[in-house]
Amino acid sequence: MTAPAPAGFVPPPYPYDRLDELKPLASALDGGMVDLSIGTPCDAPPAFVLEALRSSGAERGYPPSIGTAAYREAARGWLERRLGVVVAADELAACVGTKELVAGVPHWLRLRDPSRDTVLYPAISYPTYAMGATFAGARAVPVPARADGRLDLGAIDEHDASRALCLWVNTPANPTGALGDLGAEAAWGRAHGVPVLSDECYVEFTWSGPRRTILEHGTDGVLAVHSLSKRSNLAGARAGFYAGDADLVHYLGEVRKHAGFMVPGPVQAAAVAAWDDDAHVDEQCARYLGRLERLAEVLTAAGIAASVPDGAFYLWVPAPDGDAWGLARRLAADAGALVSPGEFYGPDGAGFVRIAVVQPDDRIELIARRLGVA
Ligand SMILES: Cc1ncc(COP(=O)(O)O)c(C=O)c1O
Repeated sequence: MTAPAPAGFVPPPYPYDRLDELKPLASALDGGMVDLSIGTPCDAPPAFVLEALRSSGAERGYPPSIGTAAYREAARGWLERRLGVVVAADELAACVGTKELVAGVPHWLRLRDPSRDTVLYPAISYPTYAMGATFAGARAVPVPARADGRLDLGAIDEHDASRALCLWVNTPANPTGALGDLGAEAAWGRAHGVPVLSDECYVEFTWSGPRRTILEHGTDGVLAVHSLSKRSNLAGARAGFYAGDADLVHYLGEVRKHAGFMVPGPVQAAAVAAWDDDAHVDEQCARYLGRLERLAEVLTAAGIAASVPDGAFYLWVPAPDGDAWGLARRLAADAGALVSPGEFYGPDGAGFVRIAVVQPDDRIELIARRLGVA
């Protein structure tokens, strides 16, 4: 006898698995597919970081869940050097990359305050903010964007605010590249007693104006979340941190220690070398900006208006007739480029495609030749 199917949570299809139908179109072209769908780095991490990974000798014992003193010191030094903010030693702790933190934090916040059951997050955004609410059995309530791309904080219902475990903000934003008003967002959180969690993993890829962090506006009631995945091309190593409100950092550090979240020892050693160096990030910035400019030019010449964003490494391109799947199919068939329909980032993104410039320059040029605009 087959047991009846359980009635509980069924994970939805992973968004990028839905691109499988487009892959044969792109792969059929001479030279193969150019995958611009997932924001996974293609460029090499620095050699000295890989050497630190190889030679750490840190494999044997359990690493500290909050990060070694050296790890936290390197992250603090980076915050001060690159973002101009100083945090105390007890205001920062490690995470295993940031996706696990984003997915897990609503659950832990709900354990801490069971009277709240809502996660507020940008309506067009990285899908894991809403998924974290689902994992916590909480409500995921999207906050719409204003015309200038900033969050429309005035649109948050007071009732939703009173139930909120947290407000997620993300600047520069994936997928739109928009820059938010972190001061206004921090102030909103404080006024409503809602922790503001600021995902800043693209901060060094800010193309318009100075880099910004929510920590410029104080640490009270806020966390900034950072990652080595994008800045140092270390998505496979899994290293990040969160910094801000000391009580929140302490609480999350304790929960995560009980749960066994640990950045592996050798990765912690490599991360110290990565956070301590900025030259490799400046080189990466030049690569991404060059690719964004070139691909925007190529697409525009092919009749698909595209412009360089204010930050991050995605082109957020309106589909000419609002048909994002149609544009994705056309780019796969004509250019061999695999791109993501904007609905992956929420219903409000449905008329756009997101194009990640995570392929070498010669592959971008291949797209240009295929579109006849080289
Ligand atoms: C906005 C945003 N936040 C977080 C992440 C997660 O990065 P990681 O888990 O590699 O640190 C990503 C990755 O694409 C992202 O785009």
